[in-house]
Amino acid sequence: MNTVLEVGYLLTAVLFIMGVMRLRSPATARSGNLTAASGMVIAFIVTVLRYHSYSWLLIGVTIIVGAFVGTYAAKKVRMTAMPQMVALFNGMGGGAASLISIGALHSSWSHGISTPGSSISALLTILIGSISFTGSLLAFIKLQELITGRPITFGAQKLLNGILLALAVVLGIAMAISGGSHDFLVLTIYVIISAVLGVLVVLPIGGADMPVVISLLNAFTGLAAAATGFLLTNNVLIIAGALVGASGTILTQAMSRAMNRPIQNILFGAFGKVAAGGGGGTVGDADGVVQTATVEDVATILAYSRNVVVVPGYGLAVARAQQEVRQLMEKLGQRGVTVRFGIHPVAGRMPGHMNVLLAEADVPYDSLFEMDAINPQFPQTDVVLVIGANDVTNPAARNQPGSPLYGMPILNVDQAQRVIVLKRSMNPGFAGIDNPLYINPKTSMLFGDAKASLTRLLRELDEV
Ligand code: TAP
Repeated sequence: MNTVLEVGYLLTAVLFIMGVMRLRSPATARSGNLTAASGMVIAFIVTVLRYHSYSWLLIGVTIIVGAFVGTYAAKKVRMTAMPQMVALFNGMGGGAASLISIGALHSSWSHGISTPGSSISALLTILIGSISFTGSLLAFIKLQELITGRPITFGAQKLLNGILLALAVVLGIAMAISGGSHDFLVLTIYVIISAVLGVLVVLPIGGADMPVVISLLNAFTGLAAAATGFLLTNNVLIIAGALVGASGTILTQAMSRAMNRPIQNILFGAFGKVAAGGGGGTVGDADGVVQTATVEDVATILAYSRNVVVVPGYGLAVARAQQEVRQLMEKLGQRGVTVRFGIHPVAGRMPGHMNVLLAEADVPYDSLFEMDAINPQFPQTDVVLVIGANDVTNPAARNQPGSPLYGMPILNVDQAQRVIVLKRSMNPGFAGIDNPLYINPKTSMLFGDAKASLTRLLRELDEV
């Protein structure tokens, strides 16, 4: 029986790795997801069989509740709310790893069988898992706007974090050395300190940095799960945890590179707070005139252009206008206009957000161009249609050294012959920074909800 279970776990590990590999391209991502999910089903069955001495009632209730919550969330949660959902689920993973380790440590102390090695492994998991748990919950609360999404800072914050971390390390070492039932009070204090640290680490982070932090916490949860695997001598948990830890770390790096923000700057820079103090662009200073366009103007400009680049952003996802964008592409294509899409790596609110959205509307993959591929094409582009994107097109990132966005690689849409921006108002984007693109003489603004504007545009194109 044991061999069968081990083979089941091995198969799970292989399916997880294959699944992650297939997630690398939008064309194979869907099957990658299914591959990894089937690995999870096998892991689940094997685990239930392995720990069959547990109450079937408890296992059954857990399965039903978990399946209900998962299915409901997958069906109901909007794409734009995905970061919050990931934060919430991720926090549950960290909390679970922490609880399992508390249980294992408690049990080994009670039976007098703890070793410094196993204690260190458990204590590390408790620290990382608890930070991930409370940090992720706070990230969820911030992103759901249950409290302000801006950084919350107070004096001596970093000093307090440092003292708490040092205290946790000292308590951890003391428990690993002396490990025994007399340490339960110390363990409780250790858990509380770890949980408070999670809150304190996420409090000063806000705005555009939140998705990066969620990815980092995700990596933490992976590490906590892998450490739990060592504790329980469960290979599949070690492999799955390592995969989550590694992919979370790589994703965190990729996002911070795309925003040109070193990770220490994200963790300690209180980005949104700086922005709230001013120093954004020049739009608010009325340095230029904002030109508005009508739907008729935009339809005429698009109909008589040769090539158009659409730059989608978070607003497209909010408006759920992906089907209308695809129809626009088709309609312009019938007139001989070439339409391509320029995708910024952090457009939207999560990695691949725009690719998923456009794939949903059957926009062909070969029409999607990454930032480095499309940027050299802008000077030869007749019209750029920016739909609900803001920060990722902000030229202040290129030419205003004082701007908090300075240095972030952007889509150089201002180098095209004309720019048309579809958004509802002059409000800033996620980073809270004004966008000088909107007062560029090449730019015309078509104000309104993206879906409504595109629907009117589609109708108007029939008249041109
Ligand atoms: P944003 O800069 O957030 O701009 C989105 C714009 O969409 C807003 O200015 C908003 O203006 C407009 N909008 C909202 N609802 C709309 C609707 N119904 N119809 C039309 N327009 C609408 O988005 P972006 O350019 O995609 O940039 C992404 C931001 O997220 C960046 O700051 C980036 O650093 C951050 N971020 C992303 C990621 C990933 S992985 N995607 C990770 C970390 C950080 P109005 O309110 O005036 O309409």
